[in-house]
Amino acid sequence: MQAGFYIHIPFCRKKCNYCGFFSGFKPEKDLLDKYTDYICKEILYYKEKGFFPLTIYIGGGTPSLLSNKNIEKISETFLKNFNITDLEFTIEANPEDVTYEKAKCWFDIGINRVSLGFESMNDTILKFLGRSNSQITNKKSYEILREIGFNNISIDFISSIMGNDTEELINSIDSFEAEHYSIYSLTLDENTKLYNDYKKNLFTPKSDFDYSKDLNIIRKHLMKKGYIHYEVSNFAKSKKYFSIHNTNYWNYSPYIGIGMGSVGFYYQIENKFKGYRFTNFKNFRDYFESINKGLLPIFETEEIELEKATLEFTMLGLRKMSGIDLKNFKKIFKIDFYDYFEKEKINKLEKYLKISENKIALRKNYINVMNTIIPLLWETKR
Ligand SMILES: C[S@@+](CC[C@H](N)C(=O)[O-])C[C@H]1O[C@@H](n2cnc3c(N)ncnc32)[C@H](O)[C@@H]1O
Ligand code: SF4
Repeated sequence: MQAGFYIHIPFCRKKCNYCGFFSGFKPEKDLLDKYTDYICKEILYYKEKGFFPLTIYIGGGTPSLLSNKNIEKISETFLKNFNITDLEFTIEANPEDVTYEKAKCWFDIGINRVSLGFESMNDTILKFLGRSNSQITNKKSYEILREIGFNNISIDFISSIMGNDTEELINSIDSFEAEHYSIYSLTLDENTKLYNDYKKNLFTPKSDFDYSKDLNIIRKHLMKKGYIHYEVSNFAKSKKYFSIHNTNYWNYSPYIGIGMGSVGFYYQIENKFKGYRFTNFKNFRDYFESINKGLLPIFETEEIELEKATLEFTMLGLRKMSGIDLKNFKKIFKIDFYDYFEKEKINKLEKYLKISENKIALRKNYINVMNTIIPLLWETKR
């Protein structure tokens, strides 16, 4: 089965103030080396089970902390074991890690897309976020990647952090010519320093109204520059720069999660649809032990029945500006979309939804309130 391959590198130089991701483990050399070897073994276990990659995405945490030797090992594992010719191969990189040597190594082993976590170009904001990068390292990393020859660079920015940061964010976007931008509004995750500061009234997040206003300004600006707004938070210079790996998630297609804490998903259609979501162990001891025993390091498997799956499908599909693909619904669930949802009731949601023969998409004005529209769509279930 073809699937997106996601590899999680949960190590970070230090934990950022806002980050609720499974990350932040201390990057000790011996542990990084051992972890890489186990990742490579896990990739082989999936090969034995008949999976092969549609895309490869090394994310984190901070994959750019891996040594060249380790990155080479991961890439060789793919090249030696699968017939790989021309697939999207992404690495997430923190700007302060990008050196000529690393970037050259990534380029030489076939990585063809780099996702840079800038978050901001304002050093005061970066400090507030607890980041290790700066305006200077951001610029330098971008220049190095271009000089080495990368022609598919994505940049992450976080919007609505404080004060009037939107205009500045727009200027920051304009100082680069990236093929792709991801713009995320700041979310306050529990168990983060920022969340605790908020609870102690040391930090006041912007209001929902401001979040919405900021996003609209940024979206309009990027679109005026010619970028395609193809997913709630994602913009591409042209169709060929849409992230194939992430689009696979939004299309409810299978993916494999390699590494500690990773999540995978696939489904079977025999008599009826059955989906499986599996999560890897979140501690080194169990993760390593499981692989030593010749087992996939899966700690939990969730079975997803048709009803939950169709809801997940619509929720993910609406994230794409092109919307839910009704043909894809039929392909996955073997049921006609309108045998499952009531067409007449859906038509009544026309104020919020663009409804065409094969697609149902959110109208532009309702993107920011997507979470209130989705339940309305679910209520049209037969
Ligand atoms: C999980 S991080 C991993 C990449 C890399 N370690 C980094 O920090 O750039 C991926 C992206 O998620 C976004 N992100 C993480 N936490 C966020 C939060 N609380 N609010 C908004 N965006 C967030 C950031 O834009 C970040 O670049
Ligand atoms: S934002 Fe990135 S670098 Fe910071 S703790 Fe999270 S994963 Fe690590």
